[in-house]
Amino acid sequence: MNATEIETATAEALSDVEAAQTVDAVEAVRIKYLGRKGLLPTVMKGLKALTPEERGPAGRAANTFKQSLNSALGERLAGMQDGDVVESNLSPFDATLPGQWRGIGSQHPISTIIRETVVIFARLGFTVAEGPDIETGYNNFDALNTPEHHPSKDELDTFWFENGDLLRTQTSPVQIRTMKSTPPPLSIITPGRCYRRDTMDATHSANFHQIEGLYVATDVSLADLKGALAYFAREMMGPDVGVRFRPHFFPFTEPSVECDFTCHVCAGKGCRVCKGSGWIEIAGAGMVDPRVFEHVGYDPEVVSGYAFGMGVERIAMVKYGVPDIRMLYENDLRFLHQFA
Ligand code: DAH
Repeated sequence: MNATEIETATAEALSDVEAAQTVDAVEAVRIKYLGRKGLLPTVMKGLKALTPEERGPAGRAANTFKQSLNSALGERLAGMQDGDVVESNLSPFDATLPGQWRGIGSQHPISTIIRETVVIFARLGFTVAEGPDIETGYNNFDALNTPEHHPSKDELDTFWFENGDLLRTQTSPVQIRTMKSTPPPLSIITPGRCYRRDTMDATHSANFHQIEGLYVATDVSLADLKGALAYFAREMMGPDVGVRFRPHFFPFTEPSVECDFTCHVCAGKGCRVCKGSGWIEIAGAGMVDPRVFEHVGYDPEVVSGYAFGMGVERIAMVKYGVPDIRMLYENDLRFLHQFA
């Protein structure tokens, strides 16, 4: 091949590189022209057959062919996916190219509410206690003074295992575990997952989160409970939040209350989120029933205490104005990135 023919071959090779769409295709072009049985070795061997006048220009054209083809192959690969390039033995890694931005994850709003709650109660001297998701029926119900006929024990409401254990329906059994292993006084906060056989809708999920609180000392009164929950409400929702307590019933507290915060979305005026009432139910609470103390070996004549349990999703929905609980579980980054 003389110089002109080599130049024509160069142009052809470069357009082959441009046409290659995959790493494999680029490699095939390399083999076709630069491989052991490719065009370049043939050209080099052919130089000997040329006249001395032709040989110089042809040699230079062969060099240009080799260099321009090599750099075109490298550039073509660099434009392709990282993963593909690694497979190539040309390895055209260019440290000066900008990296591929993969984004940094952010804390899930459920985790944010749990952490903020733990920090708020830590200021009141509470420490975190945890328990397992699989509980005994005794810890989840019996030790919490729940009678045999109580509807929450029904198979339709609770996920039971054949051996009598269950997926805990509330974080309250951690009260039992902690009191059994620790003498009074104590003040604990217990975040965790709970499970109920609920059908999923805008406000229900079979798997959700609660935060339990337990305070046991001497001469504890309902006023202490109200003070702690009102403090929590202001720290979590802001100074303007209203708090109210309504009489209620729980087997493990006497007296029992439910605690409502004014609706964060309408500031108590009444809207769709609070179903027009201006209030949102946040927690169940009360003074620990003496029978619970007896189950764990505390003397109800000596100690007294309060307990509460609140829904984490409920707080997140009210605080961030999330209209549907499912949004918290769907892992849709368009939703989650709003909390980054
Ligand atoms: N465990 C209750 C529930 O899931 C909430 C609750 C009510 C927790 C009163 C308490 C309490 O600690 O004292 O509905």
